[in-house]
Parts: sequence; C-alpha cells; structure tokens
Amino acid sequence: MNTKTIDWANLGFQYIQTEKRYISHFRNGEWDEGVLSTDGNVVISESAGVLQYAQTCFEGLKVYRLEDGRIVAFRPDLNAERMVDSAKQLEMPPFPKERFLDAVRQVVLANLDYIPPYGTGASLYLRPVMFGSSAVLGVKPATEYEFRLFASPVGPYFKDGVKPLTLRVTDYDRAAPHGTGHVKAGLNYAMSMRAITEAHALGYDENMYLDAATRTKVEEAGGANFIFVTKDQHIVTPRSSSILPSITRRSIMTIAREYLHLETEEREVDLDEVADFAECGLCGTAAVISPVGRLVDHERTIDFPSGMEQMGPITQQLYDTLTAIQHGRLPAPEGWLYEIKEQ
Ligand SMILES: Cc1ncc(COP(=O)(O)O)c(C=O)c1O
Repeated sequence: MNTKTIDWANLGFQYIQTEKRYISHFRNGEWDEGVLSTDGNVVISESAGVLQYAQTCFEGLKVYRLEDGRIVAFRPDLNAERMVDSAKQLEMPPFPKERFLDAVRQVVLANLDYIPPYGTGASLYLRPVMFGSSAVLGVKPATEYEFRLFASPVGPYFKDGVKPLTLRVTDYDRAAPHGTGHVKAGLNYAMSMRAITEAHALGYDENMYLDAATRTKVEEAGGANFIFVTKDQHIVTPRSSSILPSITRRSIMTIAREYLHLETEEREVDLDEVADFAECGLCGTAAVISPVGRLVDHERTIDFPSGMEQMGPITQQLYDTLTAIQHGRLPAPEGWLYEIKEQ
C-alpha cells in the first residue's frame, strides 16, 4: 500500500493492513523465537481451540509520533501485564512481558510509514492477539498457540469525534460474576455483538451494561469504562470485579488527582444515582475520553447537564491533559511513554 495516499485526518477506526506483523508460536511447551512476517493471513486447523471454544484473548494500544519526532507507545507494559492475566484466565500460556514489549518495538519499527504525522489526531493502533491453534474436540485447552501483534493506523472510534454520545441501558449482560469480564477475552465481545447491533439499529452509540447479578449497578460499556463527575467535581468510576481494568481509566484517575487536584472515588455506582452526576464519559484506548450527553434507561431519559453540544468542563480538562501527556505536550509521569527506537 502506498501510505502517501492515506488521508490521516479522516481515518476511521478500521483495519488497514500494514507491512509487517510479529508472530510467535507456542509448541512443545515453549514460545519460539518469533519473526516479522508480511503474511496477514492465518492458517490453522478447522478444529483449532479458538474456532471451537473461543480460546483467544487480545489487547489494544496506541503509538504516537510526537512533535519532536520521537515515537512512543502509551503504557504498553500494562497491556503486557493484562494479557498475561487474560491468558491465565483462559488456560493459555502467557506471552512474557519483555517479549511483548520487544514485539511492540519490532512491529512499530517495521511499519514506520504507517505512523500518522503529529497533529492529525490519528495514531498507530497495535493489536496483540493470542489464540489456541491446535485441534481440540473435547472441551479442553489447546496444546499449541499463536501470538500475533499487528498494526493499523486509526482515527477516532466514534465517528463524530468528541461530540457527546447517546447510550442506552441494555437488558443484555456482558459478563457474569466470577466469569471473564475482568480480562480481554474474545468471548466477552462475542457476547456483546447482539447488544451493540441492536443499540446501533435503535440510534444509540453504545450500551451501558449493569451488573448481571442484581442489575442495579453500573458496570461498563461494550468497549470502554465509565467516568462520572459529581456536582462538586469529584471523579467517580465504578468498581467491579467483572469489568475490564481500563488502562485509560487508571491513567485518568491519576491525572485527576495529580495534575488537576480533584478528588477521585472508585466505588460501586448505583444506576439510581446516575441522574445526579454533572458529567459522564467513556474512556478507553479507542474511545480516549468520549463524553456521554444522554442515557436512555427504558422509559426514563437522563440528560446530563453538560448537554449534547460539547464536553462538560471537567471532562474537557481530563481530555486535554490526557491527550497532552500522550502527545508529549505535557510531562508524563515516569514510565507512561515508552519510546520506540532502534537499539
Ligand atoms: C470492555 C472494555 N472496557 C474497557 C476498555 C478500555 O480499556 P483500555 O483503556 O485499557 O483501552 C476496553 C478496550 O479498550 C474494553 O474493550
């Protein structure tokens, strides 16, 4: 592909095949050395563990080109650690953290032309994925696995960028208590396909999932955690053992405390108290911080005071600070920007 023809400023969040991806195989009880490959296709048994029993997990992180030309990944060490947790939960052999970081470096260096220029709002999204590749028939873990890490340049996840979103409270559940909601298992997303398709067909941008046990507490959205701002400017985020521990959300809570000197609370959030919040946002690697203007809970509509035209003032401050750190315009906390360069 000729990268000169890419319209960086108008990229959506879609797969664009890039030059090289990193591949490693787990066979005979160990991960092989790993290689860069130009082959974007996978050939596996028709009875592979991933195809029969969804034995797969993945990650998502972004790489930015800074104004001074440096290339950085945002907190990839946390993605590596989360993928280890996901693998363990699915009885897969974890891919070692140091090797994960090396794969990030190799893939970025092999696809330099696909890193969007500074100031375009686009970034290079990295997708590490792991799956059971050997044949299984009975329900049990595969014996062989494949780890891949590929790259795709992306723009905003929500097509209107930072315009406030409209969500609905869905009657579907995303994750069970004591299930796999806290890891990035492919099966969690299969669970959400019907809910998101229905939501889009009805004109909503995303779903708010509630806890499956009592259906009274806010969990998360299909691809992002929630943050709320109280009327006295505290940042509140739901605590639950069945939501994905978002790296963006963890970063925002630190930013709120250490850069903006705001009080933060990670606690259970009742659906009944949502109408009392001043602002609401979705946060994630893809969503960054996307403001929510309206939440429809069956017959009840909650319009956040921040409205449908722009982000609320605190959400805007969080967004500006997070994106300034990610793009190198504000000093980042130690270790948040992982610089990628030739060794
Ligand atoms: C279900 C879910 N929750 C939250 C997030 C946000 O996590 P992170 O900030 O680590 O990208 C994601 C994905 O990015 C997700 O898929």
